[in-house]
Amino acid sequence: MKHRILRILVVDGPNLNVLGEREPAVYGKETLADIRKQVSDAAKRERAEAAFFQSNHEGEIVERLQKARNDADGIVINPAGYTHTSVSIRDALLFSGLPAVEVHLSNPSKREDFRKVSLVEDVVLGRICGIGGFGYVLALQALLHLIRQEGLRARG
Ligand code: DQA
Repeated sequence: MKHRILRILVVDGPNLNVLGEREPAVYGKETLADIRKQVSDAAKRERAEAAFFQSNHEGEIVERLQKARNDADGIVINPAGYTHTSVSIRDALLFSGLPAVEVHLSNPSKREDFRKVSLVEDVVLGRICGIGGFGYVLALQALLHLIRQEGLRARG
């Protein structure tokens, strides 16, 4: 069956704009631009489209997630520090009504206790943690697979 082009929005939270320079022993040496290129290439191979958004501001992330309700079919999200604190980002994800996969470069379960809490983990399809930048590619593939094969709602 011929697939229509699905639009996946990749959302990154605070401090992910400085990836590559930021604690490379924890987050790796790849920049956000490097990761986006891998995700874009993977999306093309999958006959999908990836759009990207990064912000250090909670309200801007909330606004982009609200807009996604009308311009995306699914969301890959690394809420970064807001993972552990933001009810508002969780609420906006729910408002989007879209299937989502949570990604973390590191594995928060192996780190400080405050990182073991995720306020979005129960509103996403699943989580990919501890695989570095390639986790975003895996998240994209998982999301497209679930939207296409499992018949998850995608905007028509
Ligand atoms: C992170 C993990 C968070 O605990 C941290 O605040 C981040 C990055 C990760 O990708 O491993 O900023 O989301």
